[in-house]
Amino acid sequence: MMKTFTMTKILLMLFISAFTTSFGQSFDDLAKTPPMGWNSWNKFRCEINEELVRETADGMVESGMMDAGYKYVVIDDCWQVDRDKNGELVPDPERFPSGIKALSDYVHSKGLKFGIYSCAGDLTCQDRPGSRGHEFQDARTFAKWGVDYLKYDWCHHGQLDAVASYTTMSKALKECGRPIVFSICEWGTNQPWTWSENIGHLHRINWDIRDCFDCNIAPVFFGTMQIIDINEPLWKFAGPGHWNDPDMLEIGNGGQTFEEYKTQFSLWSMMASPLITGNDLRSMNDETIEILTNKEVIDVNQDPLGQQGYRHIDYGDLEVWIRLLSDNEFAVCFLNRSDKEIKLDFDWRKYRITHRKEKFYIDNDWEMRDLWKHKNIGKTDKKFDEVVPAHGVIMLRLSGGSKIKKV
Ligand code: GLA
Repeated sequence: MMKTFTMTKILLMLFISAFTTSFGQSFDDLAKTPPMGWNSWNKFRCEINEELVRETADGMVESGMMDAGYKYVVIDDCWQVDRDKNGELVPDPERFPSGIKALSDYVHSKGLKFGIYSCAGDLTCQDRPGSRGHEFQDARTFAKWGVDYLKYDWCHHGQLDAVASYTTMSKALKECGRPIVFSICEWGTNQPWTWSENIGHLHRINWDIRDCFDCNIAPVFFGTMQIIDINEPLWKFAGPGHWNDPDMLEIGNGGQTFEEYKTQFSLWSMMASPLITGNDLRSMNDETIEILTNKEVIDVNQDPLGQQGYRHIDYGDLEVWIRLLSDNEFAVCFLNRSDKEIKLDFDWRKYRITHRKEKFYIDNDWEMRDLWKHKNIGKTDKKFDEVVPAHGVIMLRLSGGSKIKKV
């Protein structure tokens, strides 16, 4: 009896392992937490080549980013120049002489995953061949090349319907024989948060980011503050497998201060946003590495409950954001939008942390941990009087306290 049971168990395990090896993860399970990685666009625009991508993969490993959870190395626009006589996309032969498959093999050999870019229109945003009318062929090509992540843009879409176009590529990816994360880059123009849940894993909610804290650059570029204001009301649409994407990070690109970059990283983490870095991973200073590999902040970003945080209190220059985490914990982030430091005088009893959906507020017996100082800093039973730097944050994790039911 025992023997039969053991044999059945072994056969079952062999079957499960053969199944997962040949078919990999299912589409639905690919992004249970927000994807983490790197994308070439913010820093390099069209100045990309295979050497850069290989060195970026090396940098991701050597800097400790891979250990901190980053895994996708994604080439954005400009890798493609044409289609061949069979209609297959052709990579730029001067910039990618070894071909895309060799590059993805290299990235995989480092224990990382490889991503690429295409567009729903006839052409990409940089006027390279887009995937319109070639969706199934391109998805099969990407699978053949070992692609694990596709960012799919929305330029030159003409009269195309967004839902139909993204559904076609989603279907093509689901049928291509390889698990590929689908990043919808439609800039929020057709409210993708209302329809993307079963189509892709993340959807852009805004026009392109720029490397500035508080700026609105005409016609359509935004800084960190503009983007969080767009994303905040969308908190209820995010969840495991379908994330609001406020664009790639600018940390390390030189346009902002250390505090401002810490703020960007903290808010992207409060908002359960994909952490796709956009800087040069081959030459990062210690401050950039410190931010990008802050495991305690990343743990908030990757919290398995997958709830996006939101603004709990708005005092103008000062905001208090909260995010409910798994295991009965909370992340709390004090944000100073002004260019002068702010001395807090925060009374936890007066401004009770409550959850928008759930019927409770928290008592004043929670342990506070400062996620940038990496220190436990006491309980919420007294006024919180720390200083929030100009354009900076204090980010805390609250644990071990009790909740009080609202009546
Ligand atoms: C659009 C996207 C950017 C980038 C460029 C590439 O602007 O929003 O993120 O992919 O296209 O051309």
